[in-house]
Amino acid sequence: NGAGTVQTDLITLTRFILQEQQKVGPKATGELTLLLNALQFAFKFIAHTIRRAELVNLIGLAGVQNATGDDQKKLDVIGDEIFINAMKASGNVKLLVSEEQEDLIVFESSNGNYAVVCDPIDGSSNLDAGVSVGTIFGVYRLLPGSSGTIKDVLRSGTEMVSAGYTMYGASAHLMLTTGHGVNGFTLDTHLGEFILTYPDLRIPHSRAIYSVNEGNSFYWSDEIKAYLASLKEPQSNGKPYSARYIGSMVADVHRTLLYGGIFGYPGDSKSKNGKLRVLYECFPMAFLLEQAGGLAVNDRGEQISHIVPKQIHERSGIWLGSKGEIEKLLTFIKP
Ligand code: AHG
Ligand code: MN
Ligand code: MN
Ligand code: MN
Repeated sequence: NGAGTVQTDLITLTRFILQEQQKVGPKATGELTLLLNALQFAFKFIAHTIRRAELVNLIGLAGVQNATGDDQKKLDVIGDEIFINAMKASGNVKLLVSEEQEDLIVFESSNGNYAVVCDPIDGSSNLDAGVSVGTIFGVYRLLPGSSGTIKDVLRSGTEMVSAGYTMYGASAHLMLTTGHGVNGFTLDTHLGEFILTYPDLRIPHSRAIYSVNEGNSFYWSDEIKAYLASLKEPQSNGKPYSARYIGSMVADVHRTLLYGGIFGYPGDSKSKNGKLRVLYECFPMAFLLEQAGGLAVNDRGEQISHIVPKQIHERSGIWLGSKGEIEKLLTFIKP
């Protein structure tokens, strides 16, 4: 429609989720709908808190470290508490894995049928510089007959029923999949609603953009060095690739989803499994990219969503992005 016309039929996230539930038909229990609504509340609350962060001086270190040794920013801790409380209040969540919690959280009194994995604030090291941060999440349905144990979360990414992220930038953008493609929503703070803005998002098949922390290049394998060197030569159009690296996975993945290209955090000689965590960073992003027509692989070129993690903070090297770009990478790393 023209810039001037007023939209009078907005599709909110709530309406979209209900439409998705109706597609499933009468066997849908509505539980995932309730869970997704609890998730969207958490995103709205975290977005609001980040907007006020500078005002109420939440910036700065909380003075403690988390299970994976990261320095915890105050907002890491507050984002984590907001998320835990929203999941507990939903009544649908039995188990929760969070980057900021060393152990699995079990909501004893809940008889919910879902396990949620989350990175409450991704990119927090950039927070004080005003760079976009985000919340990454993934959802498993409890295994049949399970009353909720760690076996319900140490599962491959292919068993996730929903995943996505909310990036807190100039606006809050929620990119969501429930296994039927990817849809993007933007938070209208006046309405307090996420509005459908990227229906059925598909990642471009290729794009000459690579996103990796070159500061690790001394430690990379020869195959990765050769791959990246090939991108820096003039391509068939006479131009080398562009380098874009923000340092918040959510922001780097968001740009990759919208523009195309490749993002990577490979293992190297100093950290053989790289830095990104399988359950609440690699799997949700891999699920989204695959649903948008892209690919996500580990350092051996295997589909990353097929990994079965052994512990909840396990890490893996990861490359994700346009199918054409991953296929080019595979010619260098496929054993
Ligand atoms: P988190 O802030 O949740 O700990 O995640 C940080 C991650 C991810 O956001 C990003 O891709 C990566 O750290 C950047 O790491 P480097 O600074 O080593 O490049
Ligand atoms: Mn961290
Ligand atoms: Mn993270
Ligand atoms: Mn984090």
